[in-house]
Amino acid sequence: MGIIMQESLPFDNPPHGGQTIRSRLARFVKIRPFSVSGNIPMTTRKILVTSALPYANGSIHLGHLVEYIQTDIWVRFQKMRGHECHYVCADDTHGTPIMLRAEKEGVTPEQLIARVWQEHYDDFAAFHVEFDNYGSTNSNENKACAQDIYRTLKANGLIEVRSIEQFYDPVKNMFLPDRFIKGECPKCHAKDQYGDNCEVCGAAYAPTELINPFSAVSGAKPELRNSDHYFFKLSADTCQQFLRKWTRGGSLQQEAANKMQEWLGAEGETKLTDWDISRDAPYFGFEIPDAPGKYFYVWLDAPVGYMGSFKQLCAKTGIAFDDYWKPDSEAELYHFIGKDILYFHALFWPAMLQHAGFRTPTKLFAHGFLTVNGEKMSKSRGTFITARSYVDHIKNTEYLRYYYASKLNGTMEDLDLSLDDFVAKVNSDLIGKYINIASRCAGFISKKFDGKLGNLDAAASAEFKSAFESNEIARCYEERDYARALREIMRLADVANQYIAEKAPWTMAKQDGKEPELHEVCSTALTLFRDLTLYLKPVLPELAAQVESFLNIEPIAWSGTWQALPAGHTINTYQHLATRLDPKLIEAMVAANQESLKPMTESHSQQRHAEAQQPSPQSSPASGRGSDGEKPSSTLEPIAETINIDDFGKIDLRVARIVNAEHVVGADKLIQLTLDIGEEKTRNVFAGIKSAYDPEKLKGRMTVMVANLAPRKMKFGLSEGMVLAASGETPGLFILSPDDGAQPGMRIK
Ligand code: MSP
Ligand code: ZN
Repeated sequence: MGIIMQESLPFDNPPHGGQTIRSRLARFVKIRPFSVSGNIPMTTRKILVTSALPYANGSIHLGHLVEYIQTDIWVRFQKMRGHECHYVCADDTHGTPIMLRAEKEGVTPEQLIARVWQEHYDDFAAFHVEFDNYGSTNSNENKACAQDIYRTLKANGLIEVRSIEQFYDPVKNMFLPDRFIKGECPKCHAKDQYGDNCEVCGAAYAPTELINPFSAVSGAKPELRNSDHYFFKLSADTCQQFLRKWTRGGSLQQEAANKMQEWLGAEGETKLTDWDISRDAPYFGFEIPDAPGKYFYVWLDAPVGYMGSFKQLCAKTGIAFDDYWKPDSEAELYHFIGKDILYFHALFWPAMLQHAGFRTPTKLFAHGFLTVNGEKMSKSRGTFITARSYVDHIKNTEYLRYYYASKLNGTMEDLDLSLDDFVAKVNSDLIGKYINIASRCAGFISKKFDGKLGNLDAAASAEFKSAFESNEIARCYEERDYARALREIMRLADVANQYIAEKAPWTMAKQDGKEPELHEVCSTALTLFRDLTLYLKPVLPELAAQVESFLNIEPIAWSGTWQALPAGHTINTYQHLATRLDPKLIEAMVAANQESLKPMTESHSQQRHAEAQQPSPQSSPASGRGSDGEKPSSTLEPIAETINIDDFGKIDLRVARIVNAEHVVGADKLIQLTLDIGEEKTRNVFAGIKSAYDPEKLKGRMTVMVANLAPRKMKFGLSEGMVLAASGETPGLFILSPDDGAQPGMRIK
C-alpha cells in the first residue's frame, strides 16, 4: 500500500548543503510500525533552537506561553521529521530587579533564582514544553562563555572604558538603573514617570532631565556621580558595516528588517551608539575580567545564556559544541523571541557573535504580544493569568496549545486569546471533529470484531494519502504558519466525519449481513484518525501518546510513505480521550485572578513585581546605554469604583505614633507594631512591611492607621487595625507619614 516517497522538499535541506547520515538518522527517526521500506535516506538537518530566557523574578504567564508553545511545536515537528534538533533555554537571572527582590524577600539572589527556576521548569513541563536543556544564566558554563566573548571583543579593540555621570542613590548606596528613577516628565510634566521615557506623552529622555527625580528604591533624592563604564563599540565601522549587511541578509522577517534599518540609519550615518555593557557593584551578575567591582550588564550575558545552556547539553550528550557555534558551522540556529526584544537579538547579539569568532543566527523568529479578549492582559479584569493558575483551573494544557496554534501564523502580529472563542474552538474542532471520529467508530471494532482491524476503503482514504504526499501541512509547520496547518487538518477531519456520517456505522451495526462493510468503515475511520493524530502531534503530544497507546502502535513519526493500519492489527479498547471544555472553568479562573487584586496581600504585591520586568516594545537602543531589560511595565492599577463622601466617612483614619516595633518570630513578612492613637491603651497591629523596614528605624515614627477596621485574629495574635502603605510596580513599600505637628489620635478627613 502506498508509494515510496523521498523527502526532498526544499525545506528539508539544510541551507549549507546536505549530508545523508544513516547512522545518525537511525537514532532520530522512529520507524513507523508497518513500514515496508525501512529507513529511507533523507537529509538530516542539524538544528539548534532557543526561546528567549524568561526573567527569574516573575511567574510564567499566558503571554510568555505564546512563545514557548510556538517554539515547542516547531521543535517537535522537526524531531518528528527525523532531524537532529536541540531545544535549549534557561532562566535569565541577573540584574538589579532580581537583586532587590531577593533582598526584599530576605533571601540571597541564589536562593531566589533556585526557587523560581523550579517554578518555571514545572510550569513549562505542565504545558508540555520540552527543552533538551533548561539552564540558568548564573552557571559556570555561561560565565566562561561570557568572559570568553568579552576577552575576544577586547582583543579586537571593541571595548572602551569611559567615565559616565549617572544617578546614585545615597541611601541605598548604589547607582540606579533608569527604570528605578522616577520624577516629573520634562516635556508634559506628568508626575511619577520613569527615568527613560514618559508613559503619558511618550517622550524619551535621559534620567537627568527628569524634574524632581527620586529613587524608586529608597525614595531618596539621587545624586549625580561619575563612574567608569565599559562599552562595546557598536559605532565602530566594522560593526556598522556588518549589521547593515546582516540585517538585510534574510535572517529577519521583513517587518523586523525594516525596523532595524530605521535604527541603523542611512548609509554613512552612525545612529547606533556604543553599548554600555557594565554595571557597578552592588549588582547580581558576573564580574568583568580584570575590572574589579564592574559587572556584565544582564543583557550581555543573557543571550550568551543560549550558548551556556547548550554547553550543558553537550556535556550530557556528547554533542560537539563547535559543530553548532563555529563560523563554518553547517548547523542552523534559530531564536524564537518576542518583538519587544528584537533589537537585542538583531543588533547587539549578532555583532557580538561576529566579532568574537562565532557564527551568527540563521534566523530570528519574532512574534507579537498576547492580548486577552482584545485587550492587554490586565489584573483588574482578571486576564493576567499565570501558567499555574491556568493549570489549577483548567488542567488540560493542550487546549491552550491547540488554541495558540490555531492563531499563530509566523508573523509579528499580536495574537488574541478570546476566551469565548477558546471554548468554542476546543469544543467544536478538537472534540467535535477530531476526537469524535474515534469515539464513534472504535467501540464497534472492540465489540464486534474482537479488537481486530479489517480492510481499508481505499477510495475514502485517497484524500488523506494525497494530503500526506503533498506535504502541504508540513510546509505550513515549517513556516510556522500553524493556523494554516490546523485549518487544513480540520478540513481533513471534516472529510472523515462526512464519510462516517454517510456510512452511518451505527445503522449498519443493527442490520444483518452488513458486518464486512461495518468492519471496513470503522477500520478506515481509525486509519484516518491515526493520520490526523500524526498531523496534530506537534501541537498535542500527550493526546497523541494516548492515541498511540489506544491504537497499539509505535510513536508516530513523520517520514516515509503513507501507510494504512493493516488488516488484522489489534487495537486496545477505546477509552475516553478528552472532555469538552466547560466555560464555567474559564469563568472561575478569571474570577480567581480578579480576586487576588483586592486585598493588599503579599501575593498580590509579589505578582505586581512578577509583571514588573517586561521590557516595553517602544524602547529604542539609540540611547547607547541600551534600554534596560530592567524595566517594569507601567500599568497603573485602575482607580477603584467611585464612592461618595459618606462612604469615605466610614473609614476612620488616625494619626498614630509607632511606640514599638518588633520582628515576629516565625513570620517572614510581618512586623509587630505598637501604636499610640491617643486612646488609653495602645493598639497592636501586625503589618506586612518587614521586607521594606527595619523595626528599629520605625520606633518613634508617626504614621497613619485605619482605626475602625474589625480586629483580626492572626496566628501570632490579635491585629487591631491596619497601617497604610503605598506600593507600585517598582520594588518598594512605603508607609505614610503626616506632616510635622500632627498628634497621635488626630482624625484624617
Ligand atoms: N529575559 C529577557 C529575554 C532574554 S533572551 C536572551 C526577557 N524575559 S521576559 O520574561 O520578559 O520575556 C520572555 C519572552 O516572553 C520574551 O520573548 C517576550 O517577548 C515574551 N513575552 C513576555 N510577555 C509576552 C506577552 N504578553 N505576549 C507574548 N510574548 C510575551 O525578555
Ligand atoms: Zn510626558
